[in-house]
Amino acid sequence: MKLLVVGSGGREHCLALKLQESPQVSKVYVAPGNAGTQQDCHNLAMDVMDFEGIAQAVQTYGIDLVVVGPEDPLCGGLADYLQARGVQVFGVNQECAQFEGSKEFTKKFLMRHEIATAAYQEFTDYDQAVTYLKDCRFPVVIKADGLALGKGVVIAQDFEEGQEALQGFLVDQVFGEASATVIIEDYLVGEELSLICFVSHNDIYPLETARDYKRVGEGDQGENTGGVGGYSPMPYQGAASLEEGESLFANIQKLLDQISQGFKDDGFDYTGMLFVGFMNEAETPRVLEFNVRFGDPETQVLLPRLESDLVTLIQKTLDGSLQQEDIQWSKETTCGVVLFSKGYPGNDFERMTGIAPLPENTDKVQIIHNGTVRQGADLYANGGRVLTVVAKGDDLAQARDRAYGVVSNIQSDNLTYRRDIAEGAK
Ligand code: AMP
Ligand code: GLY
Repeated sequence: MKLLVVGSGGREHCLALKLQESPQVSKVYVAPGNAGTQQDCHNLAMDVMDFEGIAQAVQTYGIDLVVVGPEDPLCGGLADYLQARGVQVFGVNQECAQFEGSKEFTKKFLMRHEIATAAYQEFTDYDQAVTYLKDCRFPVVIKADGLALGKGVVIAQDFEEGQEALQGFLVDQVFGEASATVIIEDYLVGEELSLICFVSHNDIYPLETARDYKRVGEGDQGENTGGVGGYSPMPYQGAASLEEGESLFANIQKLLDQISQGFKDDGFDYTGMLFVGFMNEAETPRVLEFNVRFGDPETQVLLPRLESDLVTLIQKTLDGSLQQEDIQWSKETTCGVVLFSKGYPGNDFERMTGIAPLPENTDKVQIIHNGTVRQGADLYANGGRVLTVVAKGDDLAQARDRAYGVVSNIQSDNLTYRRDIAEGAK
C-alpha cells in the first residue's frame, strides 16, 4: 500500500514513521512534511488546504489511503472532498469536524446530552458579555468559538482581565471570525487528562493516556502553547488512591459512552480520531474540549508505545470491525520534550535559525521533527515548535533522563525547552 499523510508537524512525522513500520506499506508520502519526513519518507510540496492538489497526487502516485493530521483541512472538508472522488481517507467528515471548529457546537452537544462539562454562556455582543462578566465568580474562562491555534483561551483572574479578553475577541477581533462568538465558562479545578480515541461509526475506542504540558514556562507558568512536552501513560493522575483512580477511569468510560450515544442520537457518522480533554476533580471527570484529530505532542509519546499495526487499526476503524483488544500497548513509559523557538508561542520568533547536526536516534530515543527545513546539508528551525525528543524507559524517571540526555546535546542558539517535563510525576 502507498499512503499519504497530510500535515507538517511532529504529529505527522510520528504518524508517518508508525505507518511506515507496517508490513502492508511500501511507501509513505507526506504533504508538505518537514525535514524529518523528507529524510524518512517522501515529501510532496503542497499546502494542506490544496484539496485539488492532494486529490491529484493521489492519482499520480497511486495512493491507497490518505491520513489527515491537522484540524484545518478536516474543518475545511478534505475528508468529504476525497471520499467524493473515491479516495480512501482517514479523518472525520466536515460535519463532525465542527466539534473542533466550534466550541459552541461542542458545548451545545454536551449540554443536550447532559454530559458533564463547565457551565457556560455564549455571546456575540461585547456589552452583553461585559454585563454577564460583572456577576461572574473569578477566575473565569473566556474562549474564542473558532480555531485559534490553541491561543483562543484566556483564564481571567479578575474583571479587568476578562474585559480585556472580551475586547480583544469581540471588538478588536484578533482572531477574525473565529472570535466573533465567545464562550464564558466556569473555571474547573483538577488535573487535566487527554484521551485520544479511535471512533468507528460513532463507537469510541480509547488509546492509553497521555499527559500534555500546555504552558510555555516551567512550573506551568506563562502563556498557553500547542503543547511543549508530555508523557505516557498517565495512570491515576490526581487520584489519591488506586481505588479512586479506578473509579475515575470508570467515570471517564461512562462519559465516553454518553458521547458515543450522543453521536448516534444526533445522526452523525463520526469516524476518525476524537481527542477528549478532561478536567478531573478527584474521581469526577468533566469534558473541557473535543479535538477531531491526534494531539501534538501526545501522538509522539503514544505511538512509540503502540504495538499494534496502525494501518490495520485504521482499516478496522473505517470498516467497522475494530475491537478494543486490537489496540495493544507496550509496558514501557515514554517522555517527550519539545524544543521550541525562543519567543514562541508569540509570532515574532526568528525563523531559519541553524541547528547543529542532530544526535543519532537509538532504539530508546528518537528525535521527531516539528518545524524544520533542510537546505543542502544544513538543518534549520522554521516554526514555533521545532523538535520533539521522545525517549522510552522502564519507568518515567528513566524515560525522562534519557530524553533530557539527548535534549542537552542538541545545539541551536535559538531553541529552548522546559526543564521540568515529567518532573515529580507519579
Ligand atoms: P481548550 O482549548 O478548551 O482545551 O482550553 C485550553 C486550556 O485552557 C485547557 O487545556 C485548560 O488548561 C484550560 N481550560 C479550558 N477550559 C477550562 C475550564 N473551564 N476550567 C479550567 N481550565 C480550563
Ligand atoms: N496538545 C494538544 C493538542 O494537540 O491540541
